Amino acid sequence: MSENPLRLRKIHHVEMWVGNARQAAYFYRQAFGFSQFAYRGLETGERDTISFALRQGQAVLVVTSSYDPESDISRHVQLHGDGVKDICFHVSDVDATYARVMENGAVSVAEPYDMEDENGTVRRATIETYGETVHSFVSDKGYNGPFLPGFVEDVVETEDAGLLRFDHMVGNVELGKMETWASFYEKVLGFKRYIHFDESQISTEYSALMSIVMSDNSYAIKFPINEPAAGLKKSQIEEYLEFYRGAGVQHIAMLTKDIVKTVSRLIDNGVKFITVPETYYEELPNRVGPIEEDVSALQPLGILVDRDDEGYLLQLFTQPVMDRPTLFFEIIQRKGSKGFGEGNFKALFEAIEREQAKRGNL
Ligand code: FE2
Repeated sequence: MSENPLRLRKIHHVEMWVGNARQAAYFYRQAFGFSQFAYRGLETGERDTISFALRQGQAVLVVTSSYDPESDISRHVQLHGDGVKDICFHVSDVDATYARVMENGAVSVAEPYDMEDENGTVRRATIETYGETVHSFVSDKGYNGPFLPGFVEDVVETEDAGLLRFDHMVGNVELGKMETWASFYEKVLGFKRYIHFDESQISTEYSALMSIVMSDNSYAIKFPINEPAAGLKKSQIEEYLEFYRGAGVQHIAMLTKDIVKTVSRLIDNGVKFITVPETYYEELPNRVGPIEEDVSALQPLGILVDRDDEGYLLQLFTQPVMDRPTLFFEIIQRKGSKGFGEGNFKALFEAIEREQAKRGNL
């Protein structure tokens, strides 16, 4: 069971393509507590793109924009708004991984190539996934630079918010495409179907969605895939697809070991979260049973709780962090549960629908 056919080690970094990388970097530092550690742009001899690399715990986030209005990045931003472009995996052997995924039916974006600077070489290749999102594979054996070749050290320390690493990353795909993309992760990347939810589990009076959680064998890399299901009104997935102009990453879940501290900090930093009705906390003790946390500490912050056979989890979702109602973040603390908060979906979706209605999109 521990076999990992592609030897995917972990998520090396997540890259967003944005309209203004410098201001995005500022936002992720000030709001989410990432520290900046590397830069690539005009001053480093890069004429086309500008990137900042940020880190918190083991999570590395890169924000990139373009100086060239005709570039692929500028076109991408014009079409989708700011969004996640690349979920990049660290692998031990890029060429072997690439050969394997191509054999398994991947669509190539870039064959294996070397990125080089005075600090050494990084090998990289890229394939397509849903929408215009891609997966890169990098191996940086022996590379000594601060991030990737071309980047220089550019440190802006920020007090962190206790975020440890990426927990999971969710893709929204078009109606009828969930199965296609679940099979893609199965066949191409060797992932397993971990959990499947259908509209009977995830629905409100108005809207519904279906979701399959794909995971590598170590459960270190988890990608739930959502598609809209028929409902009385427009689902949040449809709203996303409409505003993102297609499939893309819906949310990035970040793990913390102290959600009360993390969420308090993020609220102080101005991050806006989804709120749940007070009745949620009245029903909570009956629904999840005893937990270590004091409910009176969770309620003012709006933190949600869910339990399964293995334990429980605490979670909370931000409002969209982009201009468009597209990408948002989840803060999650796990106390034994390997789930995704299924028991919260109804309360949560009703909360999301209230926000959607305010935007005139329900
Ligand atoms: Fe999630």
